[in-house]
Amino acid sequence: MTSSKDAETSRDDDWSTSRFGVDIATTRPGTPGGVFMRQFWVAVYRSQDIAKGEAKPLRIMSEDFTIYRGDGGDVRIVDARCPHRFALMHLGWVEGDDIRCVYHGWKFDRAGQCVEQPAEEEGFARKVKIRSVPAREYVGLVFAYFGDGEPPAFPPWPVRESEGIFDVWNVEHLPCNYLQSYENSMDEVHVAFTHAPGGSHAPLAVDLPIVSAEETEWGLLRLGTRKNGLARVSLHYAPNVTRVIVPPRAGMDGVGGWREIYFNFTPVDDENHLWFIAGHIEVTGAAADEYRAKQADYDRKVAEAPPAGAVARDLIAGKGRYADVRHPDLAVIQDIATQAGQGRIVKREGERLGRSDIALIAWRRILGRELRAIAGGAPRKVWSVAPGDIVPTLGF
Ligand code: FES
Ligand SMILES: [Fe+2]
Repeated sequence: MTSSKDAETSRDDDWSTSRFGVDIATTRPGTPGGVFMRQFWVAVYRSQDIAKGEAKPLRIMSEDFTIYRGDGGDVRIVDARCPHRFALMHLGWVEGDDIRCVYHGWKFDRAGQCVEQPAEEEGFARKVKIRSVPAREYVGLVFAYFGDGEPPAFPPWPVRESEGIFDVWNVEHLPCNYLQSYENSMDEVHVAFTHAPGGSHAPLAVDLPIVSAEETEWGLLRLGTRKNGLARVSLHYAPNVTRVIVPPRAGMDGVGGWREIYFNFTPVDDENHLWFIAGHIEVTGAAADEYRAKQADYDRKVAEAPPAGAVARDLIAGKGRYADVRHPDLAVIQDIATQAGQGRIVKREGERLGRSDIALIAWRRILGRELRAIAGGAPRKVWSVAPGDIVPTLGF
């Protein structure tokens, strides 16, 4: 285990991009970071947002796709554009498990094979194929695998087997690089300051944790140890998922209490990313009904309030006072303002890191090592799915 104390001796180290000799923030195709991220299943959509027969545009890791749900119920992900003359595929028709282009009617099957070209000679269609990406669903989210060859094991991470409700939060769009959010999720000290207004995380702010982190075969295991000796344990699944216990959302305390979330940070491109959050609340029976009622009330309040992302953008632009904002999604606004406010791609060259940054330093070391291996054609780590019995704890 790397401890905070070790970090004191390396406080003046430069943990910047230049130190690694490789860009640790990019996920563009063909870059080491892009190859790294494409080894894993990545959350790309909420299941509830794509109905049977619907097709939508999808941009992930600087590449454009079409996502659609076939009439059989399965989600498909294919190229954004038709290979004939590049019309957008999501404008077209879903027919069974296939999709037909709106421009001249070319039809592609679930594997991306062109199967119909109404105005062309027979035999041409079988020579035309569009890219099709493996897609699967889990805990209310759509996952896709963008790498070469066979995808890794699915599901990519375990969930608690206890009964309860899985709820998927609103998708948030952040105008900054995904790694800023992933790093923030490793930074437990921010909680006492960033989330002080509104008091959502007050039990975590009575003292500051001593942070430690350990690389595992599935990612990073992080501890925040308090003065009373208790540790909050959080899990970071490679390459972009944090499993952590968080406070109830506004007005939802009293049922289910603090709950576990699986927080996915998905790159749209290098300067934008999405949050896909699946929460697990261990309530059943009457408590589950009460939870659902409170959830509906909360959803209504959120729908009536200005969008969290817009409030955060105003704060970044200097409109309004951070400490005065009150909103049903206040903690989300606070995190977006802080992380997107660092810049589209934070300039890591100039940072002054300290001992409390030990966990994100550990992750940068891992990323740097893996990306250099990819760049140099050296052997890379073989990642595993985490065992289900390593779980986060609250620590108070
Ligand atoms: S552009 Fe799609 S069929 Fe012509
Ligand atoms: Fe936060």
